[in-house]
Amino acid sequence: MRTDVGASGWRIGVIGGSGLYEFDGLEDAQEIAVSSPFGAPSGPVTVGRIGGVGFVFLPRHGKGHRIPPHAINARANIDVLKRCGVTDVLAISAIGSLREEFEPGSFVAVDQFIDRTHGRVDTFFDEGMVAHVSLADPVCARLSGLVADAAQMAGATVHRGACYLAMQGPQFSTRAESRMYRQWGADVIGMTAMPEARLAREAELPYALLGMVTDYDSWREGDHVEVADVLRVMSNNAALARATLLQLAEALPPERTASPIDTALDGAIMTAQAQRD
Ligand code: ADE
Repeated sequence: MRTDVGASGWRIGVIGGSGLYEFDGLEDAQEIAVSSPFGAPSGPVTVGRIGGVGFVFLPRHGKGHRIPPHAINARANIDVLKRCGVTDVLAISAIGSLREEFEPGSFVAVDQFIDRTHGRVDTFFDEGMVAHVSLADPVCARLSGLVADAAQMAGATVHRGACYLAMQGPQFSTRAESRMYRQWGADVIGMTAMPEARLAREAELPYALLGMVTDYDSWREGDHVEVADVLRVMSNNAALARATLLQLAEALPPERTASPIDTALDGAIMTAQAQRD
């Protein structure tokens, strides 16, 4: 595998959500199929760079949007990005809004999650080794801030700080669920960021999520989300998402300094500590 990209030390793994299946504008782009012991990832990655910043792009739903949220092998996806030498992960996702002020078309830098998914493999530590990483702050504030700045410079309306409700799907929420999530304090809703964010933390990869609001979900009287809403807004916003990535490459500090998340497993592995006692 080629690892000569990213002279700055930054190598950003970009997980593209609905509507973002390619990353145009990468220099020396090369598509590579990377295998993982955790099964099949969503597809091949595209490796390239913009200036001194390396990028590894992976469309979450596969090319042609063939993988539903509950069937995404997030463990293989994160593992493959790690194997590609990614230093930080930026997830880009379509999201529904649970707040009037987060209007369709705007971007949201998420910083918290409520996880209502089930039946998805959500840990790397399920065989013989027990680890409990902290997820108190599941998003890397440094990367999230840089991405929010980049999106703003690209011309997007950006909301900073929001709680993402990860629902199981693939059906959208009932009105009662949507209203309950608002009462819980969730601001936006999606189907894919969990267990992705958990696994990124276990893989010691700083993770940020830039959500693109496509709809008001189903909490408003007389209104409910349909796929057509998601597709329309995502296709309008795809260019803005790409412009954000180009801005990010320019705005990243010229050299990456260490993040505490790079060593998130230090002190988190129970098995190793118990064996020492
Ligand atoms: N993705 C985009 N809009 C959504 C919604 N309303 N619910 C779940 N996932 C979504």
